[in-house]
Amino acid sequence: MEVDKVDQIIETYGGEKQALIGILHDTQTEYGYLPKETMKRIAEKVGIPLSHALRVASFYAAFGFEPRGRHLINACLGTTCHVRGMGGILDRIETVIGIGAGETTADQRFTVEIVRCLGCCSLAPVMRIDEKTYGRLRQDKVEDILQRFG
Ligand code: FES
Repeated sequence: MEVDKVDQIIETYGGEKQALIGILHDTQTEYGYLPKETMKRIAEKVGIPLSHALRVASFYAAFGFEPRGRHLINACLGTTCHVRGMGGILDRIETVIGIGAGETTADQRFTVEIVRCLGCCSLAPVMRIDEKTYGRLRQDKVEDILQRFG
């Protein structure tokens, strides 16, 4: 892991602990996740305990500690989506790409994560892939949707 890049990011923010979220954001953008080594470096350079930096990063869904696939599937298991059949949609996703919630495909194509409401319950069941939202999902549409992502 190149700590040089992390150091550059930290320097951009003047090493200020108040800029922790910005530093985490840019580090996540650089690596696609927050490697443990970079978290240690950030905590050390801005002068906070590693446990504090990890706690802050854990609070935000946008940050992750494991490498993610090129495409992030946010499958909604909020109450409305759950009642309207999201469980079956998740089963279908698993059948098509071979992974379940919290996992990443071996080819780094997809990561599946569960969310608790995407804010568009009237479209339930809903999933979001990257920036695009797919509502009124049916199991027979899942494969067609996933094939659009390389
Ligand atoms: S519960 Fe799924 S979008 Fe609200």
